[in-house]
Amino acid sequence: MALMRGVAVAWLLGSRGLPFAAATARASTAGAQYQHILVGKKGEKENVGFIQLNRTKALNALCDSLMKEVSQALDEFENDPAIGAIVITGSEKAFAAGADIKEMENKTFQECYGGNFLSQWNRVATTKKPVIAAVNGYALGGGCELAMMCDIIYAGDKAQFGQPEILLGTIPGAGGTQRLTKAVGKSLAMEMVLTGDRISAQEAKASGLVSKIYPAAQVVDEAIRCGEKIAFNSKLITAMAKEAINGAFELTLAEGNRLEKHLFHSTFSTSDRKEGMSAFVEKRKANFTDQ
Ligand code: HXC
Repeated sequence: MALMRGVAVAWLLGSRGLPFAAATARASTAGAQYQHILVGKKGEKENVGFIQLNRTKALNALCDSLMKEVSQALDEFENDPAIGAIVITGSEKAFAAGADIKEMENKTFQECYGGNFLSQWNRVATTKKPVIAAVNGYALGGGCELAMMCDIIYAGDKAQFGQPEILLGTIPGAGGTQRLTKAVGKSLAMEMVLTGDRISAQEAKASGLVSKIYPAAQVVDEAIRCGEKIAFNSKLITAMAKEAINGAFELTLAEGNRLEKHLFHSTFSTSDRKEGMSAFVEKRKANFTDQ
């Protein structure tokens, strides 16, 4: 196991289950020390990267340094050939209650614009490997935006989603107006962003924001299970599938279909496409090698 040393190991070895009771706030990996997140590998084959936001007292308010750590952890998982999917979660009370308001309170326009404030947040959206958000409790403001940067959202039955920035005299700044609108449609997105009202996990499911709801205590396990399913497949082909779906958010239908066709044709240059089809014909399980 390339990742993890010392105190974090005990936490990691329980490959499933809610790590809410983690004894340490500092996970150590081969390359990085983290203060605000816990990082490990989950799943029976330890092929699911796991990031738990760990500023529980501040309801996982997403301060700048926390988001930098998330970016760093994602870099590590992207570079680890054993990792096939990544799960991001928070605590039982809050996935994340938004960007850190205390950190933002006295910021000036010059600092925000000149300093390219929040630019590193986009790292989550540019991750090549699939990322699953396991959301319990509050996912508000930047917390909701962080979840929406992930590819799949699983919600605990008590989760609440909202974009309450309007109540603070500002607006979503990490893709909320765009991703929420694409996920739930104009009317509900307008209502949420203009009133600051939250929606429940059940409303989020009905509107297409989340794909599944589980009892709060199960949502992380289920997200890891989903990550394991994804990690079983060819990482190469998975990346192509993800790229094609993401094309739907940025391209016209004709352009998107063209991209999909190119990627589909490209799968025929891989060993994994041959292996997948041969395995079906030979009535056996495929053994993908990511080639
Ligand atoms: C900083 C926060 C925080 C936040 C909570 N806390 N949210 N600190 N930034 N976003 C801190 C509180 O100050 C408090 O610490 C502790 O967490 C517990 O919060 P309480 O308010 O006491 O808890 P509770 O009464 O249970 O209420 C929970 C809550 C409320 C409804 C989630 O905390 C809340 O409304 N938070 C703000 C939600 C929000 O407006 N999010 C959008 C942020 S703007 P102390 O030490 O004071 O007791 C945003 C912009 C995104 O995200 C732009 C692009 C990224």
